[in-house]
This record gives sequence, structure tokens and C-alpha cells, in this order.
Amino acid sequence: MNTEKKSLRDVWSSRWAFILVATGSAVGLGNIWKFPYIAGENGGGAFVLVYLLCIAIIGIPVMMAEIMVGRSGKQNTVNTLKSIAKKEGRDPAWRFIAWVGVAAGFIILSYYSVIAGEALAYVFRAFGGTFEGVTADGAQNIYKSLTDDPERLLAWHTVFMVITMTVAARGIKNGLEKLIKVLMPALVVMLLLLVGFAANTGEYFTQAVDFLFSPDFSKLTRAGVLTAMGHAFFTLSLGMGAIMVYGSYLPKDISIAKVTVAIAFADTLIALLAGLAIFPLVFANDLSTNAGPGLIFETLPIAFGHMAGGQLFGGIFFVLLVFAAWSSAISLIEPAISWLVENKQISRRRASVTAGFAVWLLGLLTVFSFNVGSHWLLFGMTLFELLDYLTANIMLPLGGLFVTLFAGWIMSQKSSRGELAIKSDFVYRSWLFLVRYVSPVAISIIFLNIIGLLG
Ligand code: TRP
Repeated sequence: MNTEKKSLRDVWSSRWAFILVATGSAVGLGNIWKFPYIAGENGGGAFVLVYLLCIAIIGIPVMMAEIMVGRSGKQNTVNTLKSIAKKEGRDPAWRFIAWVGVAAGFIILSYYSVIAGEALAYVFRAFGGTFEGVTADGAQNIYKSLTDDPERLLAWHTVFMVITMTVAARGIKNGLEKLIKVLMPALVVMLLLLVGFAANTGEYFTQAVDFLFSPDFSKLTRAGVLTAMGHAFFTLSLGMGAIMVYGSYLPKDISIAKVTVAIAFADTLIALLAGLAIFPLVFANDLSTNAGPGLIFETLPIAFGHMAGGQLFGGIFFVLLVFAAWSSAISLIEPAISWLVENKQISRRRASVTAGFAVWLLGLLTVFSFNVGSHWLLFGMTLFELLDYLTANIMLPLGGLFVTLFAGWIMSQKSSRGELAIKSDFVYRSWLFLVRYVSPVAISIIFLNIIGLLG
């Protein structure tokens, strides 16, 4: 079958457009909701350091590899891997990595949407003045009353899936870039405002800085290292093909290395700002760093409830958070949609409805895991925790491992060098060394370590 025909694909309008949508994909709940709570659960400093190292030596090379492979293949991820493998005279079975990626995107979106739904619910609570003068206990109760109620969670999850699939159906290039150009800077401004508020807490701010940036390795566990690596993939949207599909729309003349570094930098900055906004509140209010997925929902309302104009700022903040989640969610489903459209010849609209419905249904597991099903445990985890663990800690790093092997060993150096268009021999060689040896070995060591094979 000829699967390489007529993909009337347009390309991003400029380098900026690509940076914007890829940053839009990267920056999301991962930075603002997930990073702070997993940093809290894993003891802070040492975990943050491992996470930063993973961004640098695994995340950046893998992201370059994904964009490079995507641009070289110019199709959905399945066809891209198949056609490149064929061209290089290798086994087209490499395309199965893309399948795992499509599945990971489905599963991640299923719980991502439930959390984004919670953020959406908070838009109304914030504008409605619910947080006015709220105490730490009060904030916890507000969050609990949302998650305890499966109907409410389900309703917001449904709203979020509908808005996500509506945009996905229109195609990612219509409008998304313009939106993100305004939203990202606005989000950074709001975070700076929150960090400014937190800085006023004086000693608690210092305590938070200490917590996040002074590594105490006695608090770091093997599981923590795996979580840090998994999160490096999650936050940069790597390991499942999202950035690969985006790369497939990237014009030829753009430096992949430069855009990658810019995206990774912006993404990391936003996560660290979120940490600096949240942990002073945790310490000032005697809360636990171990609050889990409710952390931002239980802390930020305290800040908004006590600052001048907090009702307005709080509302705006959660609106921006929803938008950030939205531009990420679209990228989670794009590999599936582009495959359905290009290989199954169905319209983007039908593809979006079908895929969206499946994801919505799967999302019920997460909805229930916070209430009626909170005691349904598998391997000691709730269903939400299990889906998150399976994707972020296993599927994404595994996908990343195979992408590095593909880019470093399956693609010829002539192809990768031509596609990356790096002029400096040194830079190209360094990248090649990273994807061939450093990243795959680092990922493998962390995996072996968790299984306990390294003693
Ligand atoms: N990176 C996003 C965040 O931090 C989530 C996300 C979007 C993602 N696309 C992805 C995670 C692809 C893994 C793979 O919120």
C-alpha cells in the first residue's frame, strides 16, 4: 500500500511559530501542577538536581532527535519511522515505537484532562470569590469537595475534552500559534506575581529556596530518580511522538539545536517559578510537602485569597493554566489524529471525535480514582497513579530510548547530519555522542536500578 501519498501538509509559518507551538506543548500542567508536587514528594533539592540533569543530558538530545526524525520523515510518526527505516535498509518494524507512543498519548490525555478540568473548575471558584480570606484548611476543603464528587469531576473533564477536540479537529496550525504568543508571556507574568507574593513571606521563601535547591541526597530514592527522569520526558513532551509530529511540519532552514535549547530553557524556567511560588506557601501554612496531586489547588488559593486583587488575578491565573493545558493536550492527541487522517483517510473531524471519545471514556478511571474508586488499588497505586506511573515513568523513557537508538544508529550520519544542518563539526559530534551513548545508557541505568539489578 502506498501510505506516502498526498499528505497535503502545510508547514509552520516561521521559526517562531514552531517555537511557540512546541513550547505550548511543553509548558502545561507538567510544569505547574506536576513538577511541584513530585518535587515535594521526593524530598526537593536532590530530586530537582536529577531532574535538571535529565533535561540536559537526556531531554535536549532526545528532543533534537525527535524533531530531526519528524522533519526528515514528514508524515505521521508511524509512517515516518517506517519510511526512514526502509530508506536506510533497516527493519520497518521500528514503526512499533510510534504505536507505543500513540497509546501513551491516549493514556496521558485521559488523566491530563481530568486535572485540567479541575483547573477549569477553579477558574469559576477564583472569579467567584470563593478564596477570599481562605485558610489552609478551607483551601483543602474546597479541593476535597471537588474531587470527592465524581459528577463534578466528570462534567469538567467532559468540558475540557470537548474544547480540546474542537481545536484538534480544526488542525493545529489554525490559530494556535497566535494564541500561545500572548498566553505564554502572560503566564510567566502571573507566576512572577505569585513568586513576588511568596517572596514577601521572608523566612519561608528562604526555606523554599533551600528545599528546592540544596540537594540532600539522603532523601533521594531509586524511585525518585526514575520519577525525575520520567518527568523530564513528560514536561518536554518527549517519548511519544508529539514533538516528532510537530517537527514534521517544520521548515527545512531552521536550526533544530537552537529551537530545542530555547524550548527546554523556557519550560524549565516555568517549572522552577511554579516551585518558588508554591513552596513558601507550603511552609508558611505548615502544610505537608507530600500533599500529592492536590498541592497547587490547596496552596495557590491561599495566596489569591490574601493578596490585593486576588480574585481577579486568581481567575486570570487559572484561565492561563487551562490554556497552557489545552495547548499541551492537543499535542498529546496529534500523533493519533495525524495517523488516522493520513493512513485511514478519514476526516480530521471524524478522527477527532473518535479519538476524543475513547480518551474521554478512559478518563473515567481517573475521575473515579479520586472518589468512589479511591480504594481500587493495583500494585499499591490508585488507577490515576498507575496510569501516570505507567506512562511517565515507563512508556515515555522507553519511547525515548528507542528514539535515541533510531536517530543515533538506524539513521545514517549522512542523513542526520544533513537534517540537523549543524555547521559545527564539534556540535554535531557532541549530539551524536549523546544520542548514541550517553542518553541510552543513562536511561538504561535508571531502569536497571529500579528493577534492582544494579544492587
Ligand atoms: N508537556 C506537557 C506538560 O508538561 C504535557 C504533554 C504534552 C506531554 N504533550 C506530551 C507529555 C507528550 C508527554 C508526551 O504539561
